[in-house]
Amino acid sequence: MGWLVTVVTIAVVITAYLGLRVIRPLPLPAWLKRLLFFIVAFLVIGQRFVWILRKNGHDHHLMDSLDLAGYTFLGFISFVMIMMLARDVLSIAARIGDVFASRRKRAIFFKEQKASHRRLRLNLSNVAILLIAVPLTAYSVHTARSLPRVTEVEIEIPHLPEQLDGYRILQVTDTHVGPTLKKPWVQRLVNLINEQHADMIVHTGDLVDGRAWWLKPDVAPFAEMNAPYKFFTTGNHEYYSGVDEWIREARFLGMVPLVNESVVIDVNGAKLLIAGVPDTQGGRFREDHTPRTKEVMDRAAEHDVSILLAHRPDIIFDADRAGVDIQLSGHTHGGQFFPWTLAVACFNPYVYGLHDHGHTQIFVSNGAGYWGPPLRLGAPPEIAVITLRKI
Ligand SMILES: [Fe+2]
Repeated sequence: MGWLVTVVTIAVVITAYLGLRVIRPLPLPAWLKRLLFFIVAFLVIGQRFVWILRKNGHDHHLMDSLDLAGYTFLGFISFVMIMMLARDVLSIAARIGDVFASRRKRAIFFKEQKASHRRLRLNLSNVAILLIAVPLTAYSVHTARSLPRVTEVEIEIPHLPEQLDGYRILQVTDTHVGPTLKKPWVQRLVNLINEQHADMIVHTGDLVDGRAWWLKPDVAPFAEMNAPYKFFTTGNHEYYSGVDEWIREARFLGMVPLVNESVVIDVNGAKLLIAGVPDTQGGRFREDHTPRTKEVMDRAAEHDVSILLAHRPDIIFDADRAGVDIQLSGHTHGGQFFPWTLAVACFNPYVYGLHDHGHTQIFVSNGAGYWGPPLRLGAPPEIAVITLRKI
């Protein structure tokens, strides 16, 4: 319940800020301002209550529509509020600067700052901000809801057996099938995955955002993913969505769940180890879902090369200590959209791309879907085709 109180409180603060700084100064009749305020409150606060309805087992296509409208609006106002906050901070800084100015200059400044002028300036800057935010949101929504790009990654391993040179692993992650990413998008994604003709497909978590009773039809196309081997490990959102049912569902869709487990695949005599650890939040929900990288590697069967599936990049410290060759991760979404693209580095050792970390190489993918607002700006959605290379 604590999370709901926090979310609704933030929604109320956002609504109040927009009401005071955008709607109230507008030169419009009072009834129209009230209507605008009601629409903003409905989209920002009202949509949160769809969560409660879904939690209690209700579903209706109108709830999907409200989710899409609400989340898109949330993305739009996040762009708007960033620009408004930047403007307001600059404005406050200018006023503070004026306090230190000469008495004469201050007199001129305040003369110019008549209330009507201030309101006109505020309205004009609000219009400019909205004019920038509309196309920015449209572009970001288009990017987020389009098919992901296919990123080709080559990972060189000195001790790779000849038989594994050129082996191709398709990584898909953070699909977040849920309120706004539904079956048609999943079907197109699966078609794109199958066009890559990979030797193995791995899903590194955050498959869904919601319970199985609700999303089972939407994830159905994943059963058509075509490769000799398909594996899955859990992301944090599986734990918020009912992890046991989603592990069962992943198996039903043809993926082998790897939760503190590993398997060895024989590729023409070469032994490739695929291990998986659950998300670091897993232990909060099930004790046996605490990631135990070292134990998994210690009890792994004999192998030539090892690949670890771990939703979060921060498992890399354990992976390196455990002697893993390659770690594949997601979780970060590359920040998903500005300005989070800048903030995300504060919470993750690696945000995107291929990195060397001690004896382990880690690839972090932007992920194919999105969470929350349907926006991608500065971190395009992707699936990755990882080719193993001998050097
Ligand atoms: Fe995610």
